[in-house]
Amino acid sequence: MRISESKIEEIRNAANIVDVVSEYVQLRKRGRNYIGLCPFHSEKTPSFTVSDEKQIYHCFGCHNGGNVFKFLMEYKKISFIEAVQELAEQFGIELNYDDSVPEGQSEQEILFDINTEVARYFSNNLLNDGEGQIARDYFQKRNIKVQTMRAFGLGYALNGWENLVSFLKQKNIDLEKALQLGLIGRNKDGRVYDKLAGRIIFPIFSPNGRVVAFAGRKLREDDTGGKYINSPESIIYVKGRILYGLSFAKDEIRKLDKAIIVEGYMDLISLYQAGIKNVVAVSGTALTDDQAQLLSRYTKNVVLLFDADTAGISASMRSIEILLRKDFDVKIATLPSGEDPDSFVNKYGKDEFEEVIKRSENFLEYQTAYYEKQGMFNDPTKAA
Ligand code: UTP
Ligand code: MN
Repeated sequence: MRISESKIEEIRNAANIVDVVSEYVQLRKRGRNYIGLCPFHSEKTPSFTVSDEKQIYHCFGCHNGGNVFKFLMEYKKISFIEAVQELAEQFGIELNYDDSVPEGQSEQEILFDINTEVARYFSNNLLNDGEGQIARDYFQKRNIKVQTMRAFGLGYALNGWENLVSFLKQKNIDLEKALQLGLIGRNKDGRVYDKLAGRIIFPIFSPNGRVVAFAGRKLREDDTGGKYINSPESIIYVKGRILYGLSFAKDEIRKLDKAIIVEGYMDLISLYQAGIKNVVAVSGTALTDDQAQLLSRYTKNVVLLFDADTAGISASMRSIEILLRKDFDVKIATLPSGEDPDSFVNKYGKDEFEEVIKRSENFLEYQTAYYEKQGMFNDPTKAA
């Protein structure tokens, strides 16, 4: 079995060694490099170094070192070809072997491509289409700059039944696949229609920056659908395994060795725009085990910053449990009532926000206060 040099190069370029190693070793930024405890010998002080610039790793203790393929070969005790295959799969690169007929794209690859095309289409509607003015006005009202819209790939879905449908047809995109991705729906008489019509669009990215899903936020008063419509799960989107914004935040999270967890898309985007970039969003639910696992690749220190309403408090309580089980250091920050991170940072600015984070309390104080409020300490029958 042969894999062409250019394929191997393509995979090497896609598979950043810092990201790959981070899945197995907790790394911290130290100067230009990252350091961690060596997985190849036992040690208490880190001598294992990864260079983002050179895309190599080296251990000053046991002298193991090499590129991203070598790391996986050593770590997993697998062959070079297996390491190449594994990374190709992880980064969505299709392998066609030199001496065989090129195989078709994988199912996942096809869905990623559709989402990418559609994300570009939505983004273009927002930035350039006449009808996009309503969405541009909306974002302006919410203080979102054009540069930020571009950075997060924000978009707008034209209002009507068949705008996206026509685009998909024109691009020869398989409508069945678009249905699978939840971009369009099919009504009783078999007609397909746009599902996110008239909404502003937030593409949802995998940790590697590929578009796995979309969220559409209501813009018009007469839109009878929910506030947000989110893509259903698919073979490329498992909701509980995605943290919104992680692909943008991961470097900063690693650098600061701390992540702030918020609830909403707009919270994350506004904080990012204000210069607070170590943020991920859970999208209005409690954190899942898989999300905590994913985050632990980058840091073990989190600050939860959920809304102070009942739903937010119960999401915090559940998230604390999950994070503690995975050995996170957990703090809780609280905003004045009625504010969410987006409204707060727009009203009071970055410095005030950082004060809020500094004032965050230990999870135990938070839990205690919660149980006290529930009266669990005075009435034994209520004890959890
Ligand atoms: P919020 O209702 O707090 O909205 O939901 P928001 O993020 O502050 O949005 P704006 O500022 O009003 O525009 C928090 C998060 O919960 C998820 C979304 O991820 C949202 O960002 N959510 C909320 C849904 O998925 N569906 C909904 O209908 C509502
Ligand atoms: Mn909000």
